[in-house]
Amino acid sequence: MKFFVDTAEIDAIAELNDLGMVDGVTTNPSLIKKSGRDIIEVTKEICDLVDGPVSAEVTATDAETMIAEGRKLVEIAENIAVKVPLTWDGLKACKTLSDDGHMVNVTLCFSANQALLAAKAGATFISPFIGRLDDINLDGMELIEDIRTIYDNYGFETQILAASIRSVNHVLDSARIGADVITAPPAVIKAMVNHPLTDNGLDAFLADIKAAEIKIL
Ligand code: E4P
Repeated sequence: MKFFVDTAEIDAIAELNDLGMVDGVTTNPSLIKKSGRDIIEVTKEICDLVDGPVSAEVTATDAETMIAEGRKLVEIAENIAVKVPLTWDGLKACKTLSDDGHMVNVTLCFSANQALLAAKAGATFISPFIGRLDDINLDGMELIEDIRTIYDNYGFETQILAASIRSVNHVLDSARIGADVITAPPAVIKAMVNHPLTDNGLDAFLADIKAAEIKIL
């Protein structure tokens, strides 16, 4: 399973990247706003840091302008994936940009039928939003399962990029189902290391190290 980091914060990306945890990065307009940076500048910095796909989202809602924006975004670096919304115009932009040989991430996916359309339009990645479905009492994981089944039934190569991940259990469930990629905030990825038995066990070992004066160096 690939790990993408869902942020436009350079320091957070760099910290995880140094540990080999970053296979790519996703950004969106809200994350760019939060960073306080210019979209082109910050996206270029991320692309310089990370080898894998870096998703940068268009701002337009009509296909023609989305395509023009996408063509500008892919000039930033070779590893740009143009992010387009799952609308009819977004699918048109997806088809044109993927036919041109660019990676496209179709975002704001909330149904399996939408995911089916994105795959047919040549999407490299489909981004189903788990957390936002859970927020309205629907089952985000059920959507990931449905898309996995449909893509496998017909051999679609579009990668399932589980997005809007809010917890470590979202990561675990996505891995169990077989999502190709998760994109998660740095805090969620770092929280995966936590286990109370690890902490308790380490405390006990440290007490014995002190009591027995165990030294290696
Ligand atoms: C990623 O591509 C999405 O933009 C992101 O995961 C959305 O997450 P949120 O629902 O927590 O804003």
